[in-house]
Amino acid sequence: MQPSDKALVPFVSVDNMMRLIHYIGAEDMLRGLAEYIEADFRRWELFDKTPRVASHSAEGVIELMPTSDGEVYGFKYVNGHPKNTKSGLQTVTAFGLLAKVATGYPVLLSEMTVLTAMRTAATSAMAARHLAPKGARTMAMIGNGAQSEFQCLAFKAICGIDKVRLYDIDPGATAKAARNLAGHGLQVTTCKSPEESMEGAQIITTCTADKQFATILTDNMVGSGVHINAIGGDCPGKTELAPGILKRSDIFVEYPPQTRVEGEIQQLDPDHPVTELWQVIAGTAPGRRSADQITLFDSVGFAIEDFSALRYVRDQLIGTAFHDDLDLLADPDDPRDLFGMLQRAGG
Ligand SMILES: NC(=O)c1ccc[n+]([C@@H]2O[C@H](COP(=O)([O-])OP(=O)(O)OC[C@H]3O[C@@H](n4cnc5c(N)ncnc54)[C@H](O)[C@@H]3O)[C@@H](O)[C@H]2O)c1
Repeated sequence: MQPSDKALVPFVSVDNMMRLIHYIGAEDMLRGLAEYIEADFRRWELFDKTPRVASHSAEGVIELMPTSDGEVYGFKYVNGHPKNTKSGLQTVTAFGLLAKVATGYPVLLSEMTVLTAMRTAATSAMAARHLAPKGARTMAMIGNGAQSEFQCLAFKAICGIDKVRLYDIDPGATAKAARNLAGHGLQVTTCKSPEESMEGAQIITTCTADKQFATILTDNMVGSGVHINAIGGDCPGKTELAPGILKRSDIFVEYPPQTRVEGEIQQLDPDHPVTELWQVIAGTAPGRRSADQITLFDSVGFAIEDFSALRYVRDQLIGTAFHDDLDLLADPDDPRDLFGMLQRAGG
């Protein structure tokens, strides 16, 4: 039995997502994603917002991230399992969906492992455009795993970074990132310590994976005037920065009820002042105010960023062949005769 049009939902596989990125160009897509994310941060107040629903285990976490702008609903399924890479699996995998609020019918199902890397990098660079010191050209990139090259490219495409200094406790990861970044218009330096990676850097990105209160940056390593883009502290009991750094920084977050539980600020008092990034973008709160201030984007990843990324992909798919039609929704001739449809399929 052939499914009707009403049964079909466009599905973007990993293969098609990669084709779409190559078709658009990775840097153009990062810029496009940043524009969509920024546009949705500007209309932040009208979204349904809730901290993501997390299911924790000793090995990692599985999370659901829903939101809606009243017309379109979206959610992402994502995991975080730092030990996965040892058995040949990704630390982070994801997929997500958009649906029409008016009918509840899904309008897009997509892989989001690659898309999450793109949206995380686009969000980081978009935040840095508002917070990093003017004229920043050099970024320290600490943690050279799956996310790292995306971060480097986004900071080049969106913030004008032209030098990256790579460090990972695993030199193999640094060598991989340096290889991948060759030919992308960045001057790449591989470093033997986090201190070395931070020499001359105006932006410091930490993007490590370890399920503990890690200290990737100690207090004495961070001088005044830098912007810190902290990506890897995103779960209860999983942080990257010494508390002393947090106390010297102006801290910017996505959604405080989620970040207070998951972000670097879980190490601080629950009423420690933070600024919501959307307010900086909407012009109702200041971003960077002085050259010697330390700004910190305490990123954990919020549902609206995934919603924006799916919205961007949906718009870019129009007129392309980068999707399959998936027979996802039952569509009986009489909407109330679901059982009849099942019986006829057996005959
Ligand atoms: N904030 C967000 O929106 C967001 C989105 C995606 C991923 N993440 C987080 O970002 C982190 C990185 O993700 P990934 O997919 O690149 O993970 P990954 O496992 O592929 O890479 C992590 C890297 O960190 C390195 N590392 C671990 N401890 C270190 C240390 N002490 N010093 C230096 N390097 C160290 C590892 O060797 C590895 O190369 C994860 O913690 C993930 O949960 C956050």
